[in-house]
Amino acid sequence: MTVALVPAAGRGERLGSAGPKAMVFLHGLPLVAHAVRGLLAAGCVRHVVVAAPSSHQAEMIAALSAFDRVSVVPGGADRTASVRLALHAALEHVPDARIVLVHDAARAFTPPALVRSVTEAVAAGAPAVIPVLPVTDTVKRVDGAGVVLDTPDRTHLRAVQTPQGFDVDVLRRAYEAASGTVATDDAGLVERIGVPVHTVPGDVAAMKITTPFDLAVAEAVFAP
Ligand code: CTP
Ligand code: MG
Repeated sequence: MTVALVPAAGRGERLGSAGPKAMVFLHGLPLVAHAVRGLLAAGCVRHVVVAAPSSHQAEMIAALSAFDRVSVVPGGADRTASVRLALHAALEHVPDARIVLVHDAARAFTPPALVRSVTEAVAAGAPAVIPVLPVTDTVKRVDGAGVVLDTPDRTHLRAVQTPQGFDVDVLRRAYEAASGTVATDDAGLVERIGVPVHTVPGDVAAMKITTPFDLAVAEAVFAP
């Protein structure tokens, strides 16, 4: 049985929205509702727990009221704290969950097929699975002054998306070991406990909406 966690408690500072980014409307629905709809449309997710900003609980519950199998909990000060709170709630709600997906509300238009592909890879025995794309830009490492240190070989670099899928015990152990650490993705915490993280091909449609440019791209590309 698979549960999904949707961290949606961020402020969206880079987007510059008036309220939380997850409540920004696109084509008639807030981003968080698009994200939840995609997860449920995959057909393999039993329950979704959304971590909402504590200031906007009621608003997010109302925005998601059309969906069965969704609960909303208050998120935390950073993404890691929000996922931790959602994980706790999900395991209380579905104690026999074996697979956990963690999916950013900001990747609102992720295709259901990608959700299935990550879930199937975990079900087939991988303890942790992330969707990735080849990096198309050349990437440099720089020092504090912005001077280039070196150029990693691009053929070994991948851009990472969500949903990220985990065996439930692996994710629980990773979060237990991570007290005090803040990570930008959940697989990063799993790497630290020495568990191998596998990759599956990502999808450009799972793009993260971070900036006003991203929102404009999503509005144009995902027009109904
Ligand atoms: N997130 C969260 N709790 C936080 C911070 C972030 O649940 N305290 C979520 C966001 O809502 C988002 C995902 O983590 O769905 C990825 O974060 P990001 O794209 O950085 O969103 P924001 O933190 O909202 O944006 P910004 O960093 O520009 O403020
Ligand atoms: Mg952020």
